[in-house]
Amino acid sequence: MKVYIIGAGPGDPDLITVKGLKLLQQADVILWTDSLVNEALINRAKPDAEVLKTAGMTLEEMVDIMAERVKQGKVVVRVHTGDPAVYGAILEQMVLLKQQGIEYEIVPGVSSVFAAAAALGAELTVPDLTQTLILTRAEGRTPVPEREKLKDLASHHCTIALFLSATLVKKVVEDFLAAGWRPDTPVAVVYRASWPDQKIIHSTLEQLADDMRENGIRSHAMILAGWALDPEITDKNQFRSKLYDAAFTHRFRRGVSS
Ligand SMILES: C[S@@+](CC[C@H](N)C(=O)[O-])C[C@H]1O[C@@H](n2cnc3c(N)ncnc32)[C@H](O)[C@@H]1O
Repeated sequence: MKVYIIGAGPGDPDLITVKGLKLLQQADVILWTDSLVNEALINRAKPDAEVLKTAGMTLEEMVDIMAERVKQGKVVVRVHTGDPAVYGAILEQMVLLKQQGIEYEIVPGVSSVFAAAAALGAELTVPDLTQTLILTRAEGRTPVPEREKLKDLASHHCTIALFLSATLVKKVVEDFLAAGWRPDTPVAVVYRASWPDQKIIHSTLEQLADDMRENGIRSHAMILAGWALDPEITDKNQFRSKLYDAAFTHRFRRGVSS
């Protein structure tokens, strides 16, 4: 028996994986992050499942409950928002579970970064423009290691996804500009991606702070920056991958010779 650490997806209850949903429906005990996971998803559990909110618990309380229930032979599911591997604080849970001799398995989920890209209709890795996506956060109360400062990451001029940064946009903009980004670089913000009250803002570096303030966005937002977010990119027909290029031979298709 083990603890299943499941990604709930970004909000829409249909965006959980089939595997995650099956486990949720089999679970005897469910611990869920009530501040970010959609209750409509948790309501798909068995009617007699023990459902516990974790927002008010300490790490030790949470792990003790999981370990105890597993030892009682119960199916225990810990539900995290998005994908558990990204800012999920799962490592500390796994460390303590391991100390208690409890195994765990992670079931991935749709991260908010990809729900936001979907909401925007964006490809984040555009051929000839950028082939790199950096997932990071601005430095606030939680420190960021010295070698990962936003200004240094931004020097790559790729697509940058910022989690947990909605209240720190002034500093974010300063760092991007210091790294040589143009003030008119596109920035898209998706508030509560995939929820019924989802909001999308197309902005630029120079407008970002004002646009966030005017829209009252201070949390639960994914900020995506870089030219892949150009709202007019679909009118340009400028960037093509090699994959479907008639002259490009690959394992599944021979090139067309002229
Ligand atoms: C603690 S992190 C969890 C991230 C999560 N593990 C994931 O993969 O999306 C919370 C941050 O994720 C982002 N986030 C989570 N859900 C979101 C959503 N539905 N729409 C936009 N951003 C979201 C926000 O930046 C929020 O501050």
